Amino acid sequence: MSVPPTSGRLRFTDVPALLRARLDHVLGSPVTDAVTPAGGFGHQLAAALTLADGRRVFVKAAPDDDPLTTANLHEGNVLGALPPGAPAPELLGIHRAGGWTAVVIAHLDGPHPDLSPVSGDAGQTWALLDKLTSSPAPAAYAAAVSTTPSTAATLHGWDELASDPPADLDPAAHDRLEQLAELEATWPGLAHGDRIVHGDLRADNMVRDGALGVTFVDWAHATTGPACIDAGSLAPQLVLAGHTPADIARLLQDHPATASDPETTTAFLAALTGHWHRNARQPAPPGAPGLRAYQHRAAAAGLALLGYRLRD
Ligand SMILES: Nc1ncnc2c1ncn2[C@@H]1O[C@H](COP(=O)(O)OP(=O)(O)OP(=O)(O)O)[C@@H](O)[C@H]1O
Ligand SMILES: [Mg+2]
Repeated sequence: MSVPPTSGRLRFTDVPALLRARLDHVLGSPVTDAVTPAGGFGHQLAAALTLADGRRVFVKAAPDDDPLTTANLHEGNVLGALPPGAPAPELLGIHRAGGWTAVVIAHLDGPHPDLSPVSGDAGQTWALLDKLTSSPAPAAYAAAVSTTPSTAATLHGWDELASDPPADLDPAAHDRLEQLAELEATWPGLAHGDRIVHGDLRADNMVRDGALGVTFVDWAHATTGPACIDAGSLAPQLVLAGHTPADIARLLQDHPATASDPETTTAFLAALTGHWHRNARQPAPPGAPGLRAYQHRAAAAGLALLGYRLRD
């Protein structure tokens, strides 16, 4: 899969001197280098820091009045509450100074996973999702996410597209607009559950760490919900990475996270795909140049998968 381009992110040199001094102090060694990895659409600082003693840490930071600080704090709380063995990096600390907040996270070393059919990374990711969703979220995690409403539950798009169908809408969607809108309308009622949900699973939100293997990062959208959300989100990503929609449709039928509740899985896929089809047609937001093109590709992949689930 081609990873979406890096957006216009804040840099480590944008961080106020007070916070940089605090980080040097709490990390026990001054920061000597900061590298912003490719991937993602956010504008906050998200960088790998190298310290004078050779250690590396990962930091996400933004001004306190930036909404992404709320997201970064949510992510920090989630990382601190995930159960042992969850595929996530360790939270090292949360630090405020100079009107900014920094969330410091253990650094993972490696590339994004290769979700294409030639790699074993996709299989590893499915296995991680099975493990992550096979039992209810622990109480500490449920408490950490309880104050932030789930954005997954609000996904929709077909309702708006059905009321004024765009001329360039894929005929496969056009022919089923009413059915798709009805399906996505069932999603909010099915969107609740007690499983851990990462909420934004794409290759650029995973790192294949040399020691830990495939590990999920960017837990800013984490919530609780039905087991199918992450597997259902990953499925179109695998199509984008080169798997055939037929193979992935079969996987969705068989994977424990989605097989146990096909109705909820189909409603979620419909809502997610509607969201992509609708948002891909919105004006591009500042600082995220690759976003709309990515949403167009994801929308097509989601629709191809839905085609298999709506056949009968
Ligand atoms: N702990 C980590 N160690 C090493 N690299 C990481 C770590 N966490 C994230 N990354 C890398 O940094 C990139 C940006 O991080 P992340 O996705 O958390 O930021 P973000 O701004 O929230 O992203 P988005 O724009 O997708 O919302 C990731 O795509 C990944 O390549
Ligand atoms: Mg990200």
